[in-house]
Amino acid sequence: MCGIVGYIGPKNTSEILVEGLRRLEYRGYDSAGVAVFQHGTIKICRCEGKISQLDRLLAGERFDGSIGIGHTRWATHGRPSEANAHPHYYQGVAVVHNGIIENYTELKNSLKAEGDIFSSETDSEVFSHLFAKFIREGASFEAAVRKGLALVRGSYAIAVLCEKEPDRIIAARKESPLILGLGNGENFVASDIPAILSHTREVVFLSDGEIAVLDAQSVRISTLAGAPVERAARHISWDPIMAEKAGYKHFMLKEIFEQPRAIIDTLRGRLIEDSDDVFLDGVKLTPEEVRNFDRICFVACGTSYYACLVGKFMIEQLVGLPVEVDLGSEFRYRNPIVNNKTLVVLISQSGETADTLAAMREAKAKGAQTLCICNVVESTLARDCNHVLYTHAGPEIGVASTKAFTSQMTAIFLLALYLGRARGSIDGPRSRELMQRMVEVPHLVEQALEHEPAIKAIAEKYSVAKNFLFLGRGIIYPIALEGALKLKEISYIHAEGYPAGEMKHGPIALIDEHMPVVVLAQQDAIYEKILSNIEEVKARKGRVIAIAMDGDTVLGSKADDILYLPQTDPLFAPFVMVIPLQLFAYHVADFKGTDVDQPRNLAKSVTVE
Ligand code: AGP
Repeated sequence: MCGIVGYIGPKNTSEILVEGLRRLEYRGYDSAGVAVFQHGTIKICRCEGKISQLDRLLAGERFDGSIGIGHTRWATHGRPSEANAHPHYYQGVAVVHNGIIENYTELKNSLKAEGDIFSSETDSEVFSHLFAKFIREGASFEAAVRKGLALVRGSYAIAVLCEKEPDRIIAARKESPLILGLGNGENFVASDIPAILSHTREVVFLSDGEIAVLDAQSVRISTLAGAPVERAARHISWDPIMAEKAGYKHFMLKEIFEQPRAIIDTLRGRLIEDSDDVFLDGVKLTPEEVRNFDRICFVACGTSYYACLVGKFMIEQLVGLPVEVDLGSEFRYRNPIVNNKTLVVLISQSGETADTLAAMREAKAKGAQTLCICNVVESTLARDCNHVLYTHAGPEIGVASTKAFTSQMTAIFLLALYLGRARGSIDGPRSRELMQRMVEVPHLVEQALEHEPAIKAIAEKYSVAKNFLFLGRGIIYPIALEGALKLKEISYIHAEGYPAGEMKHGPIALIDEHMPVVVLAQQDAIYEKILSNIEEVKARKGRVIAIAMDGDTVLGSKADDILYLPQTDPLFAPFVMVIPLQLFAYHVADFKGTDVDQPRNLAKSVTVE
């Protein structure tokens, strides 16, 4: 996610901006920049790369103004570059933005038709042009911002400067966080508390649809419609490190709770409701090419591989194409049988995993079309695949993947819809129904997250166990594998995910009172089978932790511990079922005192074989 800092007061703003941006580096970024008033005009300094590079550029210039805005960019639209870095400036207006403008293409085309010249590939640049347009047409700075925002669909946190009114900063938010810092004769705006904590602990949290006008003496908040808003400041007692995690103990826990937003952001702008179609920016397949495929091959590693296993169920069920799933480390050496009728889908959060990159090269060498689902813009995988479908989970700091995983499943759903519509296996009404169910998922995930206290209690009870089994069937079997991986990689406890139907072929020999068994029991066509698996475990003194759906009246009497989740269509159950497993692994590891965010022996991106 991008970082925003703004300052207005008597001090040298560029120093305050750079220091604030440094405090936001943990959010991940690929370019940075500042805009500072210098004797009534706005000076811009931007660069690709790190803040240290920006600092060096500023040292060589006179940037001693006392009003300015700064930005660190995590690319979503447009590659990392100086031209795509923020602030974006046009005709006396400078803007920094965090979020996604869904209708930027339409707005950009309309502004270009009026003669505007754009200089970047970004959606964010549209803001500077929109506000400049209305100011050109006679509106005040504030009125121009209101008019521009009224035309925008999507999410934003923005800070804006205007040369016609150089004594203020205007800020606004919709679905992307933005805070105001209140000082003595100075005021601040930022994406997040760490950026301003060294200057003030008095913070006002802007709400969606609100605009703030800051000068050195005051901050005035109102709604987009203009109604005044009174909002008391809150005193922040966090230390800077706690603030980077937004008060969560670990980045992993923060990212688990960011999943509803990550799913929403990955869907944003891609579901075209009036046509029941999907728009996948970065996927350039023609309908004929889509119809030409006779097979899909998913390739990935680790958690991303488990997302592929879920994808097999989604695509085979919705599209009717056979799907193979392979590990990158296997695919690259098995002389895979792929050709120009195979769509090879490579999934990677980092886009730099060596085995997945090697698999991509192998697939391309054999003439297959390659499409990657990736979370890092312009990563090697994203650059080298024929097509790219980005997840918009924002930077994932914890080594254990959580929000990237649910975002990957979201992207796979979008791909299934895209392929199904092009091949005619999904008609309009069915597409609309699936979209409506997918749009409900973030709320279902939020409901599952509300069970954290109960999950934490179960985790403490079982944190002394030395081995675990995770059982699931059908589309939930990959979630059992993912739950086992989460537990072992951060708590160092041995855990194994298994298809429940396989128990009788060997693993049941492991069952005794020392082996907790986590059973994922969604109420679908094979629910009765899961019940019999639980009976098998109980008959051998095994301890069962059941993850069940609301309304299940049977499992409560059979399991030693049970957690109920909101009912959902079986196709979307993986999004909900994985949440308690992430939280279970997190709390077991936290009780054990392991390094949750940086587990031993692990790297966030395995860039070597
Ligand atoms: C997941 O929690 C692990 N960190 C690991 O399995 C990871 O998913 C795997 O290394 C693949 O990484 P990628 O998605 O960046 O390719």
